[in-house]
Amino acid sequence: MTVFFNTNEQNLNEILNKAADVINNGGLVAFPTETVYGLGADGLNPDAVKKIYTAKGRPSDNPLILHISHIKELDRLVKNINNTAKVLMKNFWPGPMTLVFKKSSIVPDIISGGLDTVAIRLPSNEIARQLIAYSKTPIAAPSANTSGRPSPTKASHVFEDLNGKINMILDGGNCEIGVESTVIDVTEDTPVILRPGKISYENIKKLFPDVVYDKHLTETTPVSQPKSPGMKYKHYAPKGELYILDGDEEKFSEYIRNSCNSHTAVITFTDFPVESENVYYLGKFDTPEEGASKIFDILRDCDTNGYDKIFAHMPNKNGVGFALYNRMLKASGGKIIEL
Ligand code: TXA
Ligand code: MG
Repeated sequence: MTVFFNTNEQNLNEILNKAADVINNGGLVAFPTETVYGLGADGLNPDAVKKIYTAKGRPSDNPLILHISHIKELDRLVKNINNTAKVLMKNFWPGPMTLVFKKSSIVPDIISGGLDTVAIRLPSNEIARQLIAYSKTPIAAPSANTSGRPSPTKASHVFEDLNGKINMILDGGNCEIGVESTVIDVTEDTPVILRPGKISYENIKKLFPDVVYDKHLTETTPVSQPKSPGMKYKHYAPKGELYILDGDEEKFSEYIRNSCNSHTAVITFTDFPVESENVYYLGKFDTPEEGASKIFDILRDCDTNGYDKIFAHMPNKNGVGFALYNRMLKASGGKIIEL
């Protein structure tokens, strides 16, 4: 029931035409983006969008991002494009950034989960953009995972979660960035970061010195009404208990030595090697790009292997490292051990 296509094949036009037909007939297509795989439906067709929530098992008050292939498609979806939005778009679109605007009346309520705003993204991935352009409609797409599982960064992750529940999967290889887009509220002049991603606080601060994080991002305890509704759910949770260990190299190795066995796993950086049975490396501590691109695949692998406990080294929080930290913190349910 789920058709699988490799987008490296010669007949890419034919594949994209088929995928656009599925979208235009109210079906679901999973496709690659530079961040994670998306599960796409016609964003202006509420019946099609409903199927996304069913396939993922997603709570219906968690709103979706509309993906566009060209900036000219933005006007009819939003009420107002202020200077803050214009500057961010000029600098970071196409790319891993989602902007939240006041929505226009053509955006169905099921997209915005009852809010008066809509999240819009113009991705840089060519397959994603061509799929949107061929479909001639904004494509609503959350990450293409079962709700509560790590986001998919490979087509095989999508297959694992959604085979038999969606019409088509377009395989475009591994996602380069590996964590979801930065979500920024631009309904006021001051940009507010609702979800950290590759476009970092530091990147935005250069353009807008007053940029702020939404306050839930700097707290470890969950709040009841965060501005980005997705933030209130326990996301990306591996089946084992994940703990983030914060402390120097010596204390870290000692903790691992005393706590690990064949049922546990360790996630660390090459700068902090440990001797244990099941060790995953996120690359170098100072270049969190590699860690970001690997984290979800590693968490899925921990699930496959059924580890009871996973001990992860605290990442460097600079640049995309803050997004890596944010995803690990959510996967851990906020469990940080100070060594
Ligand atoms: O990289 C990405 O953003 C991927 C790819 C597929 O584009 N998509 C993705 O979608 O991560 P999803 O649905 O898993 O996450 C969307 C996030 C959620 O945290 C949601 O609450 C927030 O964006 N969001 C969506 N609409 C919003 C709105 N109107 N106001 C505030 N937050 C919104
Ligand atoms: Mg998601």
